[in-house]
Amino acid sequence: TIYLLLAMVLAYLLGSVPFAVLVSKSMGLADPRSFGSGNPGATNVLRSGSKLAAVLTLLLDAAKGWLPVALVGWFGARWGLWEGAQAAVGLAAFAGHVWSVFLRFKGGKGVATALGVLLGISPWLGLWVLLSWVLVLAVWRYSSLSSVLAALLAPLFYIVAGGTLWAYDRWVLLAVAAMSAILLMRHAGNINRLMQGKEPKVGQKKTAAG
Ligand code: G3P
Repeated sequence: TIYLLLAMVLAYLLGSVPFAVLVSKSMGLADPRSFGSGNPGATNVLRSGSKLAAVLTLLLDAAKGWLPVALVGWFGARWGLWEGAQAAVGLAAFAGHVWSVFLRFKGGKGVATALGVLLGISPWLGLWVLLSWVLVLAVWRYSSLSSVLAALLAPLFYIVAGGTLWAYDRWVLLAVAAMSAILLMRHAGNINRLMQGKEPKVGQKKTAAG
């Protein structure tokens, strides 16, 4: 248990690293918390005009969700970790991004990090969710709508394919469902704007705050 706690704390700290802010700063761009939606995430970094910064943010924020899950997947048994440890560290990394200790607990929405966690749990699960995100974006052009629909689909994909493509695991299901619920709550402002027709599309710069 002490090792599990240690692994969770490390995953939380890694998840807390705000790559949107760090990448923007290192590239001489404005802090993503100061414009657009104010969200420290890849979508908002894109509104700075730098695709490279957005892609780097996306990759790094996903990597910090993927790495702890992958490490526990590879070495968890050897370290004597509990069977639900993968789900637990994934959730801890995700929580780090959303409630970052380095941003006074005002972190991001968690989309990229959740994707990384899913990829670490099962590459197929992650890829299906990513594919649905990309398809929704291609059709409607709202990053937030893609994220909301992907969050709704992720637990369903896991349940439907559980037991066939990848082994069903209740701890993983719990973690995936928890991440989805938190993701939906974090998109409350986006959902409101979508319903009012005020949400900016990807590639469009102006946006409301929140
Ligand atoms: O990655 C978060 C995305 O779903 C919405 O971001 O900046 O449009 O609120 P944003």
